[in-house]
Amino acid sequence: MKGIFPVNKFRELRTPFYYYDTKVLRDTLTCIKTAAAHYANYHVHYAVKANANPKVLSIIRESGLGADCVSGGEIRAAIKAGFPAEKIVFAGVGKSDWEINLGLDYNIFCFNVESIPELEVINELAAAKGKVANVAFRINPNVGAHTHANITTGLAENKFGINMQDMDRVVDIALEMKNVKFLGLHFHIGSQILDMGDFVALCNRINELQEKLFARRIIVQLINVGGGLGINYDHPNRQPIPEFKNYFATYAEHLKLRPGQELHFELGRAVVGQCGSLITKVLYMKQGTNKKFAILDAGMTDLIRPALYQAYHKIENITSDEAIEAYDVVGPICESSDVFGKSIDLNKVKRGDLIALRSAGAYGEIMASGYNCRELPVGYTSDELV
Ligand code: LLP
Repeated sequence: MKGIFPVNKFRELRTPFYYYDTKVLRDTLTCIKTAAAHYANYHVHYAVKANANPKVLSIIRESGLGADCVSGGEIRAAIKAGFPAEKIVFAGVGKSDWEINLGLDYNIFCFNVESIPELEVINELAAAKGKVANVAFRINPNVGAHTHANITTGLAENKFGINMQDMDRVVDIALEMKNVKFLGLHFHIGSQILDMGDFVALCNRINELQEKLFARRIIVQLINVGGGLGINYDHPNRQPIPEFKNYFATYAEHLKLRPGQELHFELGRAVVGQCGSLITKVLYMKQGTNKKFAILDAGMTDLIRPALYQAYHKIENITSDEAIEAYDVVGPICESSDVFGKSIDLNKVKRGDLIALRSAGAYGEIMASGYNCRELPVGYTSDELV
């Protein structure tokens, strides 16, 4: 065991693989439950897109969170993990008819609707089944977030949601429809947000929109503010659990809810990010013209975040205590962007050493691909490796 990892167990496994520390996951879930319990009207859902590993999903389900799904496949994964249908919401800018039908068949709690044509299709498909679908409208609040451009979603230029100017019209249309029931408004401004000011800006915008509805004597049942709370990629050991207390308090302080209104959250990264690491083996050391390369058996196919978003994941040699040296840490894929980090300080590396890429529990395993005909990485929990 070096630090937090059962290295001897790791030696018996084929690399690369994901390792999920269930204590970190369970502690995180307890912290979410405790922090949210201060507010009787808070409902927290887990954004399944962050990690749909069945073992991870079932631990999250045990904690009582709901599930936020963005595809029929995610709805199936959530149901399989035991999430009750009445705690499942279905979001996404392009829902296929079969996916809407699946949601209707399971009687899921709510569809987060992103356009008028989608609303019409949901109404039609629900009518064909003699059902009434609960809907919330995803409104694009035109609020920026201080995060990577590829993961902001709440700007007018993004493809997500319905324009604020169209809100009244969409509400009118829904109120006329027989097979949908208008429950509330949905928002999501982006991901890996650490500046609470961004969430305050969202609250201010929602307050304005609620005033507009209130002027028409409309008080919606729920407001869903999406997810987005970031994690500390620089110091996963120092801060394994995100600032949930502060995050929930920000909404309590700045969002003006009317009596009886529910506040829903859809957190992904903050729930699972810090419990996961990608464990990989060093295949070769190579001396370049003026740098040393550590070539791993994991590549961008296993963890695409560095290549796609220039994301930083802390890299550790978990099998060496030797003096620190600087390495470019790279994968085996035939792409120049298959680099996990440049000039990374690591305990001296040799062939066969095990390397951990930390904070990889969210958007890691789930975004893996089979490019280069590679096998998908397996995920193990610490419960299995005792
Ligand atoms: N709700 C909606 C509508 C979303 O689009 C997302 C994430 C979430 C909730 C959960 O957001 P979170 O709490 O995880 O920030 N692959 C990227 C992140 C993409 C996020 C997409 N939407 C990454 O690896 O950074």
